[in-house]
Amino acid sequence: LEILRTRAELQAALRGDRAAGKRIALVPTMGYLHEGHLALVDSAKQHADLVVMSIYVNPLQFGPSEDLARYPRDLDRDVAMAGPRGVDYVFAPDDHEMYGDLETAVTVHAPKLADRMCGHFRPGHFEGVLTVVAKLFNIVRPDVAVFGQKDFQQAMLIRRMVRDLSFDMDIVVTPIVREADGLAMSSRNIYLSSEERTAALALSQSLRAAQEQYREGERNVHWLITSVRSMLQSAQGVSMQYAEIVDPQNLEAPAIANDDSVIAVAAFVGKTRLIDNVILGK
Ligand code: PAF
Repeated sequence: LEILRTRAELQAALRGDRAAGKRIALVPTMGYLHEGHLALVDSAKQHADLVVMSIYVNPLQFGPSEDLARYPRDLDRDVAMAGPRGVDYVFAPDDHEMYGDLETAVTVHAPKLADRMCGHFRPGHFEGVLTVVAKLFNIVRPDVAVFGQKDFQQAMLIRRMVRDLSFDMDIVVTPIVREADGLAMSSRNIYLSSEERTAALALSQSLRAAQEQYREGERNVHWLITSVRSMLQSAQGVSMQYAEIVDPQNLEAPAIANDDSVIAVAAFVGKTRLIDNVILGK
């Protein structure tokens, strides 16, 4: 595995591989890897000959009161995990390499869909995500990029960006990886105290309960979402931001729940903001 710090180094390294006709996959991350990221690498390897992982904590997607400064960073640990799993290149730029002057940078304008759900509570977040992802696509020029279903709204907006801005590449979205007790894996889980770690199970449990009701035949959108909200609102130590049932194409509530409907939730557990979701038919 090679670690590359600049665009020029990365592009030089990829030149030979590209000339040899190798298919290149990109796995964009903010580091502090866990099994969820490594599952993205497994998927990338199935879709390409060579895997580039970017590790960059993107300041543009954090709000002023969010956790940019304390977001966990440990490149040595990440490299030790990524190498054995088959990552070929880690691209780990610094802020100057990525943006030059961040204050005056041209950014990607996110569509209205980015103002809903997570975007409603994190103004500017998806503009920051789309901007860094577009830059990474232009720097790496991958044939395919792999994202996780946990960031469901992010994955949906990236698909839209690729379509609307005519990036010539495929997007693959892989299922959520969970701890044995159901908690969705996240780099932010490290912030949780042991009581908070237990409280955080309310997110996955409320989603699983709704999925169970759906499997038993419940199709009423109102009932399904009310059950999730009441579980989250009554959970000790959990402060719900939103729970919504949506059509993944347009983020509108479906008239009747169906196999493709997604229930997505966001909540604070202590100072830690967590998200989770489930596709009802899966
Ligand atoms: O999902 C993430 O980790 C980030 O939002 C991403 C896609 C790497 C962009 O910074």
